[in-house]
Amino acid sequence: MRSDLLVVAAAQLITAPPGRVPLLGPDLDRPLVIEGASIACVDGRIAAVGPTAEVLARFPEKEAGSVLDASGRVLAPGFVDCHTHLPFAGTREMEFEARARGESYEAIAAKGGGIRASVRMTRATSEADLTAAVSRRLGALLAQGTTTVEAKSGYGLTLDHERMQLRAAMHAGAASPVEVIPTFLGAHEVPDEYRSRRADYVALLCEEMIPAVAREGLARFCDVFCDRGVFTVPEARAIMESGKAHGLAPKLHADELADVGAAALAAEVGAASADHLLHANDRGLRAMAEAGTVAVLLPGTAFTLGLPYARARAMISMGLPVALATDWNPGSTMSSSMALAMTLAVTQMHLSPAEAWMAATANAAVALGAGDRAGRIAPGFEADICLFDTPDHRHVAYHYGHEHAHAVVKGGRVAWQRAASSICS
Ligand code: NIG
Ligand code: FE
Repeated sequence: MRSDLLVVAAAQLITAPPGRVPLLGPDLDRPLVIEGASIACVDGRIAAVGPTAEVLARFPEKEAGSVLDASGRVLAPGFVDCHTHLPFAGTREMEFEARARGESYEAIAAKGGGIRASVRMTRATSEADLTAAVSRRLGALLAQGTTTVEAKSGYGLTLDHERMQLRAAMHAGAASPVEVIPTFLGAHEVPDEYRSRRADYVALLCEEMIPAVAREGLARFCDVFCDRGVFTVPEARAIMESGKAHGLAPKLHADELADVGAAALAAEVGAASADHLLHANDRGLRAMAEAGTVAVLLPGTAFTLGLPYARARAMISMGLPVALATDWNPGSTMSSSMALAMTLAVTQMHLSPAEAWMAATANAAVALGAGDRAGRIAPGFEADICLFDTPDHRHVAYHYGHEHAHAVVKGGRVAWQRAASSICS
């Protein structure tokens, strides 16, 4: 049969096995690994995956539109980075330095830095400049193997500035091979002009901003930073309920800085995911397991801020769907690397490399409502894959700080390729 693209003779393929996602409990550590694997892509989707001889018997090389040689390399689904704050303007290296000198993230935020510093810089930028910045960042993500990324607003905090951020993400995404899934995070912080009347800002979010963003089709999810010093549980509940009423599925920045009961709230409202969870309590986590709310773990944030890591092993034992993401933002995690997130997941949260892969691909897709089409290499799934310059999947987390991506395929097309091999093991 004819194929548009064949990826041939990978040393090793790793993906979620056939069956249901998210992968839970012991299943997270049971990926499908095939030594000597190929895939065929037709019309942007995976048409066949399996041992090389089997795939080539059905999809011969001479009937392929193009052929990508995967020998000596690992073939994996493109990363699904299910939590980022991509449309930001300006950077906060001064806070990075201040933390090194002993100031805390919360103390910096209380002084008007932190999120509010990025809000000032984002409000001062133009939509064209912001779109160009997002485009550059998508290029960086692609070259590291990320094929789908979530992008949150939350540095505008007025309807117009939030819209600008979401449009920048949308337009940059439309021009990039990387799929961008937008999230409205108007409840990222109480903006300066509402500090003395926060209830008015919550009302503005629920009554004006969310309806407008939803009406204009600018976001798929509605997120709230529910934590100590930010939005309370009752405020977050009201905001997420408004989002739901307007067709935006809830997500939550939950219990990152303190246990405020945000995990339980995420379960209560049926959130697609609750993210961070560094301080989440067992009751909240159990409720999430019952509700099927994905726990999105962002170890780069604990690493950057010197906070305790989320209790990933306990979460997996409780049957929570666990996903991994970068949290790329200019404050708490200036990292675009899913590979580094995997390294931290393995070394600091004691996931196995295989678990980290599944959390960064199949389960991450579920956190974005895309588990039925993205995040794995299986017939019918979107042909989003990455080839890594190593013959063993464990090296991607093990050999950290090294650029392993060799070629990235998005929707069945080669979207990026490294000029020379970076194999060095
Ligand atoms: O996910 N926790 C809230 N928001 C971001 C940090 C944003 C910032 O510092 O600019 C996070 O860590
Ligand atoms: Fe975040």
